[in-house]
Amino acid sequence: MKSVLIVEDENVLRESLAELLAEEGYEVLQAQNGKVAYDLVLQRPVDVVLSDIHMPEMDGISLLGHLQKIAPQTPVIILTAFGTVQSAVSAMKSGAYDYLLKPANFDDVLLKVNRALEFGEMSATQKVITEQLAEESLFHNLVGTSKEMGKLFDMVRKLSTVKSNVIIVGASGTGKELFAKSIHYNGLTRTKPFVAVNCGAIPDTLIESELFGYRRGAFTGAMRDKIGYFEAANGGTLFLDELSTLPVSVQSSLLRVLEERVVVPVGDTHPRPIDVRVIAASNQDLQTMVDKGEFREVLLFRLNVVKIQLPSLRQLKEDIPLLVHHFLDRYTHEMNKKVLGITNGAMRALLNHEWRGNVRELENVIERAVIFSEGRQIGVEDLPFAVGEITDDVGEELKEAMEHFERQHILYSLRRHKYDKTETAKSLGIGVSSLYRKMDELKIEKNDAEPSPAGG
Ligand SMILES: Nc1ncnc2c1ncn2[C@@H]1O[C@H](COP(=O)(O)OP(=O)(O)OP(=O)(O)O)[C@@H](O)[C@H]1O
Ligand SMILES: [Mg+2]
Repeated sequence: MKSVLIVEDENVLRESLAELLAEEGYEVLQAQNGKVAYDLVLQRPVDVVLSDIHMPEMDGISLLGHLQKIAPQTPVIILTAFGTVQSAVSAMKSGAYDYLLKPANFDDVLLKVNRALEFGEMSATQKVITEQLAEESLFHNLVGTSKEMGKLFDMVRKLSTVKSNVIIVGASGTGKELFAKSIHYNGLTRTKPFVAVNCGAIPDTLIESELFGYRRGAFTGAMRDKIGYFEAANGGTLFLDELSTLPVSVQSSLLRVLEERVVVPVGDTHPRPIDVRVIAASNQDLQTMVDKGEFREVLLFRLNVVKIQLPSLRQLKEDIPLLVHHFLDRYTHEMNKKVLGITNGAMRALLNHEWRGNVRELENVIERAVIFSEGRQIGVEDLPFAVGEITDDVGEELKEAMEHFERQHILYSLRRHKYDKTETAKSLGIGVSSLYRKMDELKIEKNDAEPSPAGG
């Protein structure tokens, strides 16, 4: 029987977690603080530790530090309250395996405990690989390792701990909506609604009633009261896409809502309080529109507490291999296909393409290629655009990008084949010795990831 140690000073929470896990068939141990937990682990090993951060005597972070000395193989899941996501992040940096936000959702608890147990059973090398992958998915679906992306991730991280309004500007397909979601789902607001509204898709005459709601009889066709998007997003984020299409009259109403933090539904006189962070997106430069008198400057100031400018994919060339890999992974899974990676030629063609449609275009290209290349590598013939002259002199930047890609790809393949080198090599279309050589070159740990003699 697998054992879980719950370290939590709130009795009610600790006991309900204990009950839940006991029902699932775990052996459950309980401790009211880090000190008690530490003494317990000194006496007997446990498989997983689930620990609160703030506790008397010894807090969760010091417990984590102590456990790393006496039981470094035991995964620790940190329980943390909303608004203290930062402490979860530092706990992760100090070696916590995962974190759970309070109030903990029971499904999440079980999922994470299970995952931690599987992790506990892995070899040390497998752990290194899993950790690298976990680090990369800190922002869920956002990928990129370039300096530009790094700066953007930093911004997302900071913005997810506050509720300031944000403007995201970028060309079509650069990831405006995805960034908005990352800000919302990575922090404070993650359990609150994220409501996306495309301002350009609502007829001008209906925008106010859609945003602010209406009372029955406010206009012909208003058969009943209806709440607007602002109220629907209460406590969370309202994503106003294509902000530049908002008529000037609505801009004024929006400004009033942001300043007074209340909405008045159409046909009503009673203001209703709202607590909503607005993330607005635009592919137009709003300052230029202000200069032309098409956008209200005060509204821009209100929303523009922080501005995120998303680069075009051309400016993120270095991230292309990783993105390619990310979408390959996604679509082979989604379509349940087997694809043996991508040829260097095709990768070069992708690196050299113009990408007017940015990341979305890249995503579509990969999706399409996955459809056509079942069971083999994606080649230039699977790409929808003509491939220009490609020289062999790929340049330093490209070489680095390729290496990065290869490394990611091997790590993913290893994981998919449960670290079995023979299977991994086969899936990559290379021999086992080449795989070892590659792993050496790319500095991928491999000491104890040997396939077991029994064949596993
Ligand atoms: N850094 C990234 N990592 C992974 N996927 C990304 C990244 N950036 C964008 N994408 C993906 O590219 C696609 C387009 O992104 P998104 O819809 O957020 O762009 P957008 O800027 O809102 O586009 P539009 O202006 O056309 O509405 C989505 O499928 C998104 O998941
Ligand atoms: Mg969009």
